[in-house]
Amino acid sequence: MQNYWENLFAEKGALWDFYPSDSALIALKIFQENNFNKILIPGVGYGRNAKPFIDAGFIVHGIEISKSAIELAKKNNLDFKTIHGSLLDIPFNNEAYQGVFCHATLHLFTKQEREKILNNCYNLLEQNGLMFFTIVSIDSIKEFKGMSLDKNTIKLENGIEVYFSDLESIINDFGNYNIINISKIAEPIKHMKDQKPLHFFNVICKKN
Ligand SMILES: C[S@@+](CC[C@H](N)C(=O)[O-])C[C@H]1O[C@@H](n2cnc3c(N)ncnc32)[C@H](O)[C@@H]1O
Repeated sequence: MQNYWENLFAEKGALWDFYPSDSALIALKIFQENNFNKILIPGVGYGRNAKPFIDAGFIVHGIEISKSAIELAKKNNLDFKTIHGSLLDIPFNNEAYQGVFCHATLHLFTKQEREKILNNCYNLLEQNGLMFFTIVSIDSIKEFKGMSLDKNTIKLENGIEVYFSDLESIINDFGNYNIINISKIAEPIKHMKDQKPLHFFNVICKKN
């Protein structure tokens, strides 16, 4: 998986342009309402979803497996610290965060891996901190071509395996982390014209 992402960013650069997802803007508002100023973005890519938080004055740390993506963020003057490493190896240090925002990344991992990532992200939160994850929904499974693997999992033609969530699996994955909100969102594909939106779940959990 690491090679896939490295090659993608090395060859295609900022392929989704610098438009933030609508989910990032929703998370920003919620984090601002909670007076947060320090957040972690796991799977931050080249920072398109870090930008609205940075512009709003947040201290943003990212975790990203692709060196090329991290370099792209620097080249585009996005001012945030990124740890080059895998989400499966969190924690990397003793930092704590008020918020975690993770977009379109958790569904790239197996059930066991998702469990590990969620547990480790939750542990990085300060008390009353929030984690906000977006995960692709089963409602969008028809938009993807590939080989059907386990239930709700497809191996795409590029070799990447994607897990499509439904409400039951969301509750299963996040149930241990004090879910405070689950909502559906149709994310517009802002860098492409006339593209159907992608359906996601937005899940918010609060550290007790
Ligand atoms: C679908 S992209 C989403 C990127 C970013 N969240 C965004 O919305 O622009 C998934 C991201 O997760 C990163 N990634 C994949 N596997 C990873 C891993 N094991 N550890 C850290 N990052 C990973 C990829 O390099 C890529 O940047």
